[in-house]
Amino acid sequence: MKKTISLLLIFLLLFSLTSCAKPENEAQNSGTESKAEAQTTALDNSDTDATETPVTDKTSNESKILVVYFSWSGNLDKMAHWVADETGGDLVRVTAKETYPENYNDTADRAKNEVDNGIRPEINVDLTPEQMAQYDTVFFGFPVWWYDLPMCMWTFLESYDFSGKTIIPFFSHEGSSNGANSLSTVENLAKGATVKSDDALSIRGGEVASSQDTVIDWVKNLNY
Ligand SMILES: Cc1cc2nc3c(=O)[nH]c(=O)nc-3n(C[C@H](O)[C@H](O)[C@H](O)COP(=O)(O)O)c2cc1C
Repeated sequence: MKKTISLLLIFLLLFSLTSCAKPENEAQNSGTESKAEAQTTALDNSDTDATETPVTDKTSNESKILVVYFSWSGNLDKMAHWVADETGGDLVRVTAKETYPENYNDTADRAKNEVDNGIRPEINVDLTPEQMAQYDTVFFGFPVWWYDLPMCMWTFLESYDFSGKTIIPFFSHEGSSNGANSLSTVENLAKGATVKSDDALSIRGGEVASSQDTVIDWVKNLNY
């Protein structure tokens, strides 16, 4: 009888040891699984980070940037795209409601008439005053027209409140390399703004196409 009881006890002991061992293995396995899961999650996260980093960089810019421009024959269009790409800013093109003619002389005549008579042409701009209020820095691009800003850009500057904003001009020309009267016009019209005329970028029309690096370097060296 004693023998039978001791055998039974030994059997019970062995059984309990084996059954204790199983969960340990399972725990180990589940530990491996959760490590793998964690790894996957970590990889997922790093993937997400990798794809979202540039976006995060853009949105975490301390200042919100607008790149606004006017262009008739395409030079400022190129420059503005390079500036927007480099800054991550929002790009807005100003156009006249009544399109300028394709012919140079006709456009020059109409522009001269607008300058001489102080005409503010109506413009198309996809920007509400509320949206404008959110920008801290405005990159402002234009061609020199009749030694000044195209009158559409007068209309633009008079349409919004620029107080507290920083305006950084960039322009193209065919001889008026210092912008003639255009920079002081920006200073006068954008009331309350800090206009960084000394930092303005000026590129001759014929050289714009090959000036992408110049534009990018200019943006990189600015303090804004
Ligand atoms: C109507 C008109 C007036 C212009 N007036 C001047 C001027 O006063 N001084 C100057 O240097 N260039 C002048 N230009 C040349 C433009 O500033 C130059 O070609 C510029 O690169 C054009 O930019 P866009 O291609 O973006 O229109 C004038 C061009 C036009 C069409």
